[in-house]
Amino acid sequence: MIPGLEHVAIIMDGNGRWAKLRGLSRLNGHEQGAQAARRIVEAARERGITYLTLYAFSSENWNRPSSEVEGLFRLLERFIDTEIHRLKTSGVCIHTIGDMSRFPETLQNKITRTLQETSGNTEIHLSIALNYGGRDEIIRAIQRVGRLGVNVTTLDEQTFSDQLDTSFMPDPDLMIRTGGEWRISNFLLWQMAYTEIYFTDILWPDFDENALDEALTWFSGRQRRFGLTSEQIEGTTS
Ligand code: FPP
Repeated sequence: MIPGLEHVAIIMDGNGRWAKLRGLSRLNGHEQGAQAARRIVEAARERGITYLTLYAFSSENWNRPSSEVEGLFRLLERFIDTEIHRLKTSGVCIHTIGDMSRFPETLQNKITRTLQETSGNTEIHLSIALNYGGRDEIIRAIQRVGRLGVNVTTLDEQTFSDQLDTSFMPDPDLMIRTGGEWRISNFLLWQMAYTEIYFTDILWPDFDENALDEALTWFSGRQRRFGLTSEQIEGTTS
């Protein structure tokens, strides 16, 4: 258990480059990426992290070759089929964020069943971001606010947050991006206002328990100020 660390969000980048370096197809890279995801869910649970959010398919990923998009869907189905038993019995509660309405119906049904079957678990909340984009989420939340008939001139942060896909989770304390890029790529734009952000060159399929521990150690050394001064945080202000 790391003090102050409840929620870790991850941009799992580098599957394609990992595969290319080995002369493999991009889909092979994603397959290894799914294995890394499986390991990290388990490692996060063992370390007392109670919320883990993984960016699996962004709203921009539709622009990839259709063979890759379809391959990612197949991989997700296979991940559910092979992991559901383990996830259920190890206390993992699965959620999704994003707009799944564009996904194939069979996949949507499978995901819905998985959410139902794990809904009683409380040890770790695993949220998989699917057809997710931070801007799209914000727009959909505004539309919901409108449908609720809320007066927008008096709208407050809590009322707005309650309409986001992430309303059930705390904001991320730590966001990890693998693969060497230093950007947040439309991920959790509203929720990352005060998140500590950790970038590593490790390609996602190579990200393992040790790499996670390095990120957690880095996080432990951060002083989170939430807009205050370090003197206020340390209680040395007069
Ligand atoms: C980014 O790597 C990764 C993705 C777009 C897909 C992430 C999907 C997985 C890790 C597998 C499925 C996940 C679960 C939870 C079952 P990239 O392809 O952009 O890599 P590159 O930048 O090296 O090309």
